[in-house]
Amino acid sequence: MATLLIVHHTPSPNCQALFEAVVSGATTDDIEGVRLVRRAALAATASDVLAADGYLLGTPANLGYMSGALKHFFDQVYYPCLDATKGRPFGYYVHGGNDVTGAVRGIEAITTGLGWRRTADAVTLTGEPGRADTEACWELGATVAAGLME
Ligand SMILES: Cc1cc2nc3c(=O)[nH]c(=O)nc-3n(C[C@H](O)[C@H](O)[C@H](O)COP(=O)(O)O)c2cc1C
Repeated sequence: MATLLIVHHTPSPNCQALFEAVVSGATTDDIEGVRLVRRAALAATASDVLAADGYLLGTPANLGYMSGALKHFFDQVYYPCLDATKGRPFGYYVHGGNDVTGAVRGIEAITTGLGWRRTADAVTLTGEPGRADTEACWELGATVAAGLME
């Protein structure tokens, strides 16, 4: 059974709605043979990352970057996971108030450094999520999960 790890920082109802949509997509009945492991970004460890086959990341934009929580996650796992996780698939979503550019740039740079392979379009949005946004998050979860099916 493949393991998909979702590492998220979810400090508000709008972020929670996106998180739930991604989880729903990743665990839909059509996905078989993939176990979803959920970890808050401040609790996720290098062991969690090493034990997974693919990754979903979710964060708000904070102070022009990804949340400190997701940055802390990367700070913890970067070197322990650098060689072992190269080439693994991932996807991500970013929610902001007005501008997610810096957060997106940061996630792209760090995952490029890790050698992770983005297998779904990133979902980025500001303000209250609409139906199209939650559907895009559902697709994000389903796409990355489907890529882990054997
Ligand atoms: C300390 C702080 C810094 C923030 N910085 C940014 C930012 O740089 N860019 C942005 O688009 N939103 C920023 N926001 C807004 C958050 O991204 C937003 O509150 C979060 O995505 C949750 O969305 P919600 O408040 O609509 O539920 C910031 C929020 C806080 C609390």
